[in-house]
Amino acid sequence: MKRTIQALQAKKKIEKITAITAYDALFSSLFDNKIDMILVGDSLNMSFSGKEDTLSIGIDEMIYHTKAVCRGVKESFIVTDMPFGSYQNSKMAIKNANKIYKNTSADAIKIEGDIRRAEIISNIANEGIAVVAHIGLMPQFARSEGGYKIKGKTTEEGKRLIDCAVELEKAGACMIVLEGMYSNIATTITQALQIPTIGIGSGVNCDGQILVWSDMFGFFQKFKPKFVRKYLDGSTLIQNSLEQYVKDVKSGNFPSIEESYQG
Ligand code: KIV
Repeated sequence: MKRTIQALQAKKKIEKITAITAYDALFSSLFDNKIDMILVGDSLNMSFSGKEDTLSIGIDEMIYHTKAVCRGVKESFIVTDMPFGSYQNSKMAIKNANKIYKNTSADAIKIEGDIRRAEIISNIANEGIAVVAHIGLMPQFARSEGGYKIKGKTTEEGKRLIDCAVELEKAGACMIVLEGMYSNIATTITQALQIPTIGIGSGVNCDGQILVWSDMFGFFQKFKPKFVRKYLDGSTLIQNSLEQYVKDVKSGNFPSIEESYQG
């Protein structure tokens, strides 16, 4: 059955929401119906395209990957990231959010930003587009902040995050991603909000959890954040299988008679 935003919101305090990223139809079809939510994250700029950060991806690339992900999905709720620079003001944000909604079957768009994005979130939500907010460590700010910084270390920063989450819910966000923040702050936010919180590196008490697929399956090797649990050693498996294939081709062991068409 298709997961709607109402179904996900109804899980709050009852059952944890599960989420993962996907960037193509092959993997989204493997994840579909085993997971509540699939995010077409702009992390694809790093994991898929090999770029240094998420900043350079554009709206058309996000749409291309979202279309592919949607083709593989029947049941999971699909969220697409609005890329850096695509929501600098309400007019631009509405235009680009509309473009994603019109060209794909994504169920919601996601916006990184603090309290200054409240008006933009409200204006997109008023257009009838579901908006997921994303606060805490925001990868789109990594360059201007000089790296990926864990948030909520000081009392003031913690309070700012809590106030921000409350304001973004009031603005009309249907869900909120809490990334890279101290667990106690994420817990307070989760208790204060009616909408679900989806944690990544924000402790156990969020209403749900999300991980980047290439991190959790051991394919992304540049770095491994503390919060990632590796469920598979994907790169070793692939490399070992590839070595075997190369050996088989060189030795004439592949293809066999059974793998050949006979005249
Ligand atoms: O782009 C992404 O994959 C994300 C997750 C880290 C939540 O925003």
